[in-house]
Amino acid sequence: MNVHRIEIARLPTPLEALDRLSEELRGPRIWIKRDDLTDTIASGNKLRKLEFTLARALSEGADLLITCGGLQSNHCRSTAMAAAKLGLKCHLILRGSPPVEADGNLLLDRILGAGISYVSSETYQNIDKCIADVERQYPGLNPYFIPVGASDETGLWGYIECCAELKTDFVNNDIEPQYIVCATGSGGTQGGLIIGSALYGLPSEIIAFNVCDDEAYFRNKITTDFRLWEERYDTPIGTGDLSINVIGGYVGPGYARATKPVFDTISRVAQLEGIILDPVYTGKAFDAMLQEIKNGYFVDATDVVFIHTGGVYGNFPQRDQFDFQPDRNL
Ligand SMILES: Cc1ncc(COP(=O)(O)O)c(C=O)c1O
Repeated sequence: MNVHRIEIARLPTPLEALDRLSEELRGPRIWIKRDDLTDTIASGNKLRKLEFTLARALSEGADLLITCGGLQSNHCRSTAMAAAKLGLKCHLILRGSPPVEADGNLLLDRILGAGISYVSSETYQNIDKCIADVERQYPGLNPYFIPVGASDETGLWGYIECCAELKTDFVNNDIEPQYIVCATGSGGTQGGLIIGSALYGLPSEIIAFNVCDDEAYFRNKITTDFRLWEERYDTPIGTGDLSINVIGGYVGPGYARATKPVFDTISRVAQLEGIILDPVYTGKAFDAMLQEIKNGYFVDATDVVFIHTGGVYGNFPQRDQFDFQPDRNL
């Protein structure tokens, strides 16, 4: 089966060296792949996946996109944005109760005109019923459901093809990073990188820090996505021998909730390098990577690439968690 793609992300994204931070750490040189710059509003990893997901939806004649996630889902916001850009309707099934004030991603979902249904965690468990209920609200439209995070056999292509870009980045910077590190939340970024690294012959092992669930969950999810990918497409490689490396133990108080050190790391990276991470995904994974550098996990590495998968709007609803310097009166 052919792979369809539309161009909605601004690619390639830059690969930048974090020289000041690396010097402070006295460990490997840390690089950051700026996938927070795939767009302004729709920025982040989801746009890479949506290039393939939405091409499939369009090829199937869809004019209504339905997707789901948490109240502050970056994926839902990116989908709402992409739908508006393509002239499609969009409906989001969000887990949680309607907040008094829409903030962060939710505010953008509202501005972008997405239809929204707030559902309890229990109702969300039966997502098929939620989808059917939404579909009934749009008679005459042809719906296409995008699974959480656009992480399925089609979304995998986003980060498979990112590896072609990384290969060029590595040649241009004359580096052979031993590791590529990312946050894993629904498995599609990690899964795509694993296949892409093998396909494009990158020298790097893919390491992911889970921000929810546990290692076993992600191994299982990614193995399933790999199987479906091989079933659906004429795949250029097999996935049987690929290793899925997830480092657990860094979820902290729960999904979308972070400890103080994570917020401190977000501030430190912002102030040292001018790069904004987020408390739900990238800040948590980056902080975990720093801890593992201290623990010696990356001891053999000269270069490590962190994939900045976006998420900046997740900082806004958690503004109270940051320690800011006091303002100065003049
Ligand atoms: C900013 C950000 N980073 C990382 C992830 C995790 O990526 P994935 O869902 O592909 O595992 C997500 C979404 O889940 C995200 O929104």
